[in-house]
Amino acid sequence: MSTAIYPGSFDPVTLGHYDIIERSSRIFDRVIVGVLRNSAKSPLFSEEERVNMIRHVARNLPNVEVKAFDGLLVEFAREEKASVIVRGLRAVTDFEYELQMAQMNRVIAPEIDTLFLTTNLKYAYLSSSMAKEVAMYGGKLSAFLDPEIASLVRAKFAPEK
Ligand code: PNS
Repeated sequence: MSTAIYPGSFDPVTLGHYDIIERSSRIFDRVIVGVLRNSAKSPLFSEEERVNMIRHVARNLPNVEVKAFDGLLVEFAREEKASVIVRGLRAVTDFEYELQMAQMNRVIAPEIDTLFLTTNLKYAYLSSSMAKEVAMYGGKLSAFLDPEIASLVRAKFAPEK
């Protein structure tokens, strides 16, 4: 059985992430979306919220599981018996960071490969941080986020009552 890990901060999950999750679920028998618990990026959403949001968008993909992880990604991959790490590449600007990360991971865990999927062109410009910025200024989110996720993001930026 082939198992892949799709790791990230997912703060929040975007339509671009979903595209990668859905395509990975067609390539592998089992896909584990790994949510980095203590992201250095001070996430807007808690670990639990991020996990639940991904579970919501991936609810119709039976071979996709969502789990939070701490520490080294390759250790998490080993625990889950995953032989592949999936990452999405949007543009050449992603490449340097992604290549460095893949090479680091390969030195630590030579038995685990990184597979890059090129993002659907529709979402090539999209990132969680840009979507949050649009939300902060009250912009429309339907091109970036699942409707349920969009309302959760909007609620984070809504003035306290
Ligand atoms: O969505 P992101 O923030 O680009 O994802 C980055 C992530 C979670 C894949 C990366 O930060 C990560 O793997 N962190 C876990 C710690 C680790 O293994 N670091 C060594 C790889 S260089």
